[in-house]
Amino acid sequence: MKFFVDTADVNEIRELSDTGLLDGVTTNPSLIMKSGRDIMEVTKEICGIVDGPVSAEVTATDFEGMMKEADVLSKIADNICIKVPLTMDGLKACKAITSSGRLVNVTLCFSANQALLAAKAGATFISPFIGRLDDMGIDGMDLIAEIRTIYDNYDFGTEILAASIRTVNHVKQAALIGSDVATVPPSVLKALVKHPLTDKGLEAFLADWAKTGQKIG
Ligand code: E4P
Repeated sequence: MKFFVDTADVNEIRELSDTGLLDGVTTNPSLIMKSGRDIMEVTKEICGIVDGPVSAEVTATDFEGMMKEADVLSKIADNICIKVPLTMDGLKACKAITSSGRLVNVTLCFSANQALLAAKAGATFISPFIGRLDDMGIDGMDLIAEIRTIYDNYDFGTEILAASIRTVNHVKQAALIGSDVATVPPSVLKALVKHPLTDKGLEAFLADWAKTGQKIG
């Protein structure tokens, strides 16, 4: 499973990219707002840090407006992935943008039928929002499983990008189901490495090692 980080914070992106574990980045208008930076400037900086796809979201809601914004965003870098909302205009834009050879992430997906349409529109990625469904008392992970089945039934090439991830358990469940990608907040990505028995075990090994008085090299 590929890991994208869901943030526009360049310091976090740089730190995670240095680990070699990062395959891409997703941003959205709320994350750009949180960064306090200009979308063009911050997105260009992110594209310089990460080689993989960097999702930048259009804010127009009509087809023509989305296409214009997609053209502007595409000029930022070769690894830009245009993010469009899951609306009829968004799907139309998805078809047109992917037909021109560019990457598209269809966002705000909350149903299997929406994901089916996105695949038919040639989406590179579909972003089902797990956490926001969980917030409503609906198991978001069921949606990932449904989409996996449908995409496998028809051999769609669209990659499932599990989004709105809130916990390490979300990551594990998405991986078990076979989500192609998970876009994860920095704090959750860093929490994946943690286990109390790892810390305890390491502490004991180091204490015993100190008693030997040895040094490697
Ligand atoms: C996905 O690309 C979105 O940016 C993101 O995962 C939304 O997550 P949220 O529900 O935590 O805002």
